[in-house]
Amino acid sequence: MDKFLVNKSMNLKGKVRVSGAKNAALPILAASILAGDEVILEDVPRLRDIEIMEDILTTLGADFEFIEENKLRIDTSRVENKDIGYELTSQMRASTLIMGPLLARFGNAKISLPGGCTIGTRPIDLHLKGFRALGVDCDVHNGYIEAHSEGLVGQKIYLDFPSVGATENIIMAATLAEGETILDNAAMEPEIVDLSNFLNKMGADVKGAGTPTIRIKGVEKLGKASHQIIPDRIEAGTFMVAAAMTDGDIELENIITSHIKPVIAKLKEMGATVEENGSHIRVKGTSEPKATDIKTMPHPGFPTDMQAQFMAFMNIIDGTSVVIETIFENRFRIVDEFKRMGADIKIDGRTAIVQGVEELTGSEVKATDLRAGAALILAGLVAEGETIVDDIYHIDRGYENIEEKFKALGANIKRVSV
Ligand code: UD1
Repeated sequence: MDKFLVNKSMNLKGKVRVSGAKNAALPILAASILAGDEVILEDVPRLRDIEIMEDILTTLGADFEFIEENKLRIDTSRVENKDIGYELTSQMRASTLIMGPLLARFGNAKISLPGGCTIGTRPIDLHLKGFRALGVDCDVHNGYIEAHSEGLVGQKIYLDFPSVGATENIIMAATLAEGETILDNAAMEPEIVDLSNFLNKMGADVKGAGTPTIRIKGVEKLGKASHQIIPDRIEAGTFMVAAAMTDGDIELENIITSHIKPVIAKLKEMGATVEENGSHIRVKGTSEPKATDIKTMPHPGFPTDMQAQFMAFMNIIDGTSVVIETIFENRFRIVDEFKRMGADIKIDGRTAIVQGVEELTGSEVKATDLRAGAALILAGLVAEGETIVDDIYHIDRGYENIEEKFKALGANIKRVSV
């Protein structure tokens, strides 16, 4: 299994092009099932999670081909409705996202209950609630979800919580339903907007994405489309923290600054300089960063996927910082790893109190999930001595060429296979 060896690398400097967003690409790949035709996607990141979605789509009968490094052609004309078993779904929670498109196109779907990051219980009750409202019988037994319908019918649906995945699945299911679906308390993440833009390019009628109320008018048929995936706001945020934390100077290209407002605001509060310029952003650190507090919230609040990276930074800031995690209950598993590096963090339920320490020390640590893995690299960049990050398959699920990108900024990071 691969590991990263990270050595102290202050003052990271240079340019990074941000890759396409994994969390936008995954639902869009699933939505290609709805085209029943050829779809061309640009800026698709080359990641393990994308390969898992490729395996799922090819199992269903899709033709899947990268015609350039990040340009993908998918032909779903020969897709058939087949069961998707545990081997595929256990690897990634986002595998549930094929349910909406399969239900819309075929009226039925059978998939094994999903796996994914170990960051919480992550039920799919809200997805099923939405499907049931559209007239689908959903039965969960023997580790499978079996869903049947005689044709989906548009409905008013209220989500008890603005779940990203449930919003995406319900929008996709409703695209070919009879009549109009009105989804209230929908998630407002930029990835929902990107999915809706793609669906509309295929001929769907989705309005209101990015607001809490989304209206989907069912249409007869969807077809071919081309689309460019939005930049990955979490990858961007990770490099922005790297700039601030190492007292560096990093310019990011391919960024939509309105997607990362909470990250920009927090970094400024912490003393970094952030210059926005169209699709570019430049972050400069400071030798005297300030402690701060964060509370994760659904978009446009502070993203849970940036929480661990900020905690890595808080570890080396003089003073006390507080992190409240309201989205996933297991996102503090990384705290034990930070403690191995000399961090001083106390947890009380969903609150972590981080007391800044003089310095972190290089240690052997484990990536407990995808974002935690990125946070451990960040911690390794400022720690004295060598940090060995194990279980980096988590990081490979979601960051494209992460070590090359860090190396180009002057970081001392090496991948080793053991
Ligand atoms: C997506 C992102 C993930 C991000 C998360 C929150 C993808 C592929 N993944 O995950 O990176 O951390 O949004 O921004 O886009 N919940 C329920 N019932 C449900 C669905 C969700 O209780 O049916 C709960 C979950 O357990 C969790 C919370 O809602 O506590 C948020 O989950 P959700 O927004 O659905 O996240 P994902 O779509 O899984």
